[in-house]
Amino acid sequence: MKVILLMAITLDGRTGKNAMHLVDWTDLEDKKFFVQITKKAGVIIMGSKTFDTLGAALPGRKNIIMTQNHKDRAGTDNLVFTDQKPQELLEQLKKEGFTQVILAGGPTINTLFAREKLIDEIIVTVSPLIFGYGTSLFSEKIAVEMELKDLQQRGKDLVAITYAVKNITHD
Ligand SMILES: NC(=O)c1ccc[n+]([C@@H]2O[C@H](COP(=O)([O-])OP(=O)(O)OC[C@H]3O[C@@H](n4cnc5c(N)ncnc54)[C@H](OP(=O)(O)O)[C@@H]3O)[C@@H](O)[C@H]2O)c1
Repeated sequence: MKVILLMAITLDGRTGKNAMHLVDWTDLEDKKFFVQITKKAGVIIMGSKTFDTLGAALPGRKNIIMTQNHKDRAGTDNLVFTDQKPQELLEQLKKEGFTQVILAGGPTINTLFAREKLIDEIIVTVSPLIFGYGTSLFSEKIAVEMELKDLQQRGKDLVAITYAVKNITHD
């Protein structure tokens, strides 16, 4: 099971101004890229805070929402609330026939997977913005070594960078 971490960042590497900041600062090209890559994978994993900013499941894909309160939240076939451990969750998705999954934030959930060394690829879409402060890809001290796999300009201002992960460590 290939796990692809996909996040929108600013030129200074910020994923938001704070933990409540909606991802409403990316342009149409970023949204189109997000839809394309998540539909191709067929399944997306995100944290409950990120899901709450969206308000509803993304159509045409299986949405897995990580939460400790899964018993209180009603799902459907395409919307699953779970507190499964990352490894167990990936094994289950593999049994269901998925071969890749998009891990789509936020930083807390990204960190859960990074701590288990379960991220194979990182794709960042860089918007032409600098926040000067804010959140990052991970919520803890995670260090990642990577190699460049692909670099694409999308639209006028967006750059999508794909890195293969070589090693992940944490303090
Ligand atoms: N730039 C981007 O591309 C991008 C992408 C995604 C999100 N974001 C931004 O990131 C922010 C949210 O990120 P965040 O890090 O605060 O939250 P998050 O990762 O979206 O969700 C955190 C939640 O995950 C659940 N959780 C934590 N540990 C868990 C575990 N071991 N097992 C099961 N569930 C667990 C908890 O939910 P419960 O409280 O329900 O238990 C926790 O509150 C938002 O502002 C969003 O806009 C940016």
